[in-house]
Amino acid sequence: MLELNGATYRYAGYARPVLHEVSLRVGDGEIVGLVGPNDSGKSTLCLVASGLAPASIGGELKGTLTLDGTTAAGLRTFELAERVVIGFQNPNTQRSGIAATVFEEIALGPMNLGLPVVETVARTRDAISRLRLEAIVERDPQRLSGGQAQLVGIASLLAMRPRHVILDEPTAQLDPEGTRLVGEALEALAARGTSLLVAEHKTDLLDRLCSRIVVLDAGRVVRDGSAGGVLDDPELRELGVEPPARVRLTRAVAHAGGDPRALEAVLR
Ligand SMILES: Nc1ncnc2c1ncn2[C@@H]1O[C@H](COP(=O)(O)OP(=O)(O)O)[C@@H](O)[C@H]1O
Ligand SMILES: [Mg+2]
Repeated sequence: MLELNGATYRYAGYARPVLHEVSLRVGDGEIVGLVGPNDSGKSTLCLVASGLAPASIGGELKGTLTLDGTTAAGLRTFELAERVVIGFQNPNTQRSGIAATVFEEIALGPMNLGLPVVETVARTRDAISRLRLEAIVERDPQRLSGGQAQLVGIASLLAMRPRHVILDEPTAQLDPEGTRLVGEALEALAARGTSLLVAEHKTDLLDRLCSRIVVLDAGRVVRDGSAGGVLDDPELRELGVEPPARVRLTRAVAHAGGDPRALEAVLR
């Protein structure tokens, strides 16, 4: 389980915190969605929940990050990296820069964990097939489209089979097919007991994947509840979050005097 308690975070050199008293919990095997308008602090929360802020990027954190009962502040960088991995919004930030092929790029993670070659190759192949990257395994990781680079970045994380995963807008550059593949890969990770925190604008995806959703506004948690409950919240749009198609359609049908239950069979 990954747990934040009363996290108030200030970037180095800034007087005011960006996150205020944020508490949240991601259980084993749970996918928690993180939504909110631009600048509400989603990316910052991802950095704090991964332990990178303040350990690697500085700044000041009040409150605690706890991973399976261990306080992150007491862990060394490599110990932290074994427990929690983060996928950045921009896949170029993630790329190692040293791998000659996509296959090597994905294999680097498990290799760095010191796993035997056979296990490294098996995990790399599994991640490649989950994200349907077979056609580009020989390509230079520097010469990929934005969407391909994003899928390779996620495959690299999958291959590490971490206990905790933080993803900052993992599907920002993906088409519907890529988005669906990522969704399925995340579900498979969760089924193995990984806890996932996913900052994402595509509420249709979150509606399908998440057990819970947290809404941030100006660095504060303003909603934290079941995915169905939060996404159905009539104030969601005022909080800067677009409701999923399921909710918009149901409302439109009800508004037109129809029976919204008729939609359920189609949308599920
Ligand atoms: N490296 C940084 N240094 C200082 N302020 C930052 C930094 N990154 C983001 N911020 C500020 O923190 C606030 C939240 O940003 P961010 O976490 O990126 O939100 P979101 O991901 O929801 O768009 C913004 O006001 C932004 O200007
Ligand atoms: Mg962001």
